[in-house]
Amino acid sequence: MQRRHKDIWALRDVSLHISAGEIFALLGPNGAGKTTLVRILSTLLRPDGGHARVAGWDVVAHPARVRAATGLAGQYSTVDGMLTGIENLSLIARLRGMDRRTARRAAGDLLDRFRLADSGGRLVKTYSGGMRRRLDLAASLVGAPELIILDEPTTGLDPESRIDTWDAVGELAAGGTTVLLTTQYLEEADRLADRITVIDHGRVVAAGTSDTLKAAAGSRLVVVVAEDREVPAAVRAARAAGGAAPSVDRRCRRVETAVADGQRALARALSVLSDEGVQALEVGLVRATLDDVFLALTARRHPAAAR
Ligand SMILES: Nc1ncnc2c1ncn2[C@@H]1O[C@H](COP(=O)(O)OP(=O)(O)O)[C@@H](O)[C@H]1O
Ligand SMILES: [Mg+2]
Repeated sequence: MQRRHKDIWALRDVSLHISAGEIFALLGPNGAGKTTLVRILSTLLRPDGGHARVAGWDVVAHPARVRAATGLAGQYSTVDGMLTGIENLSLIARLRGMDRRTARRAAGDLLDRFRLADSGGRLVKTYSGGMRRRLDLAASLVGAPELIILDEPTTGLDPESRIDTWDAVGELAAGGTTVLLTTQYLEEADRLADRITVIDHGRVVAAGTSDTLKAAAGSRLVVVVAEDREVPAAVRAARAAGGAAPSVDRRCRRVETAVADGQRALARALSVLSDEGVQALEVGLVRATLDDVFLALTARRHPAAAR
């Protein structure tokens, strides 16, 4: 799919497939093209090239069908602060074509489900950030859409509200709804998503589960020795293990290096240490985190930003 804003290609080349019932994360830094993609999938923006289908319907040919199948919670809260929680949800339900009574009942059920029943009668402007976000999630669920799209659901939230929102997203998915969420936070994608696609500058730079992405980033081999004079041997062990440029922390006598095949690297490092007669304090493998993955991917694209 492609989309240009004036002379900027916000989306150059993004292809993805989201399966029914999964939580799919689109991970990327600010300006990567996440909101542009979300706006295309929710029929707010037309693609300049390529095509997209949601629940089987083409977004350009059948926008009304797509909207009926989709719930959207945008990057910025869309609930009205001057209405109560129940009024907000009832209004959306009415806009989705429910009669007054059905709308009221749907609103009440959703408030219960998002632990807002006690605050449903209060003006939304008195809600905390986390409560507001929960109401946004509830609003996206009105009419039980097949797919809900959450654009940066936790950006700007305090840590407690973030965890609260994660729980709410988990509950959504447990109810069988398909979720597409965008995020700048690796931790969030790692924690919530079945599958992750990383985009940067409008292109897919990596895709997989958090496990496959971490595995592709390899591991880090760590050797800590007891004596300063043993540090060079630790560096030789790290080099023999295949690590290109080991980083050395002399104060902690700690040598660390990225390796592709962790298990083989560990065996080689141990063998070098034995040959040199060094009894290390610590020799270990640390699996890459999604942060390592992201740094490796974006460093490749923007060498100036590398560590
Ligand atoms: N309405 C617009 N007019 C011009 N440029 C835009 C517009 N919306 C987004 N862009 C540009 O398109 C790129 C992708 O933006 P966006 O999809 O909002 O990224 P993200 O949501 O990942 O932060 C950015 O370079 C952004 O500056
Ligand atoms: Mg955005």
